[in-house]
Amino acid sequence: MIYLSTDHRGYDLMQKIKKYLEKLGLEYVSVGANTLDPSDSYATFTLKANDLVASDDNNRGIYLCGTGLGTAMGANRNKKIRAVLCPNKKYAYYGRLHNNANVLVMPANYTSFRKAKGIIDTFLNTQFEGGRHIDRLKAISE
Ligand code: RB5
Repeated sequence: MIYLSTDHRGYDLMQKIKKYLEKLGLEYVSVGANTLDPSDSYATFTLKANDLVASDDNNRGIYLCGTGLGTAMGANRNKKIRAVLCPNKKYAYYGRLHNNANVLVMPANYTSFRKAKGIIDTFLNTQFEGGRHIDRLKAISE
């Protein structure tokens, strides 16, 4: 399952991402924001989504906030979350290949829908390389 989290800054982009995932035939659950409220906080939705993503190794998360910074910080507080802030496809590629990321974070303020689609495709279709990266990831999760 793909769990979606955004604050008000990413609300519009996330609405488009939902339609895109539907077009791809991918299931998702949005923990919020499901309405546009400029006083909401990325922390609320990030922490909620974290528990859901962490409940199964095959789960993925797509999180947004204005810069992506706050939600990335909140995401990585959970030991089972490996969140990567991806402003472009290359980051998404290496975030999966080397870091086995299970959460994709994008900076909604600086990411067009067109760009987001490419980043999402790359994130969802790149496999973890394993090998030398396994011990490194283990070390930072302990
Ligand atoms: C909200 O104004 C903004 O601070 C938030 O979306 C994000 O950029 C925080 O890191």
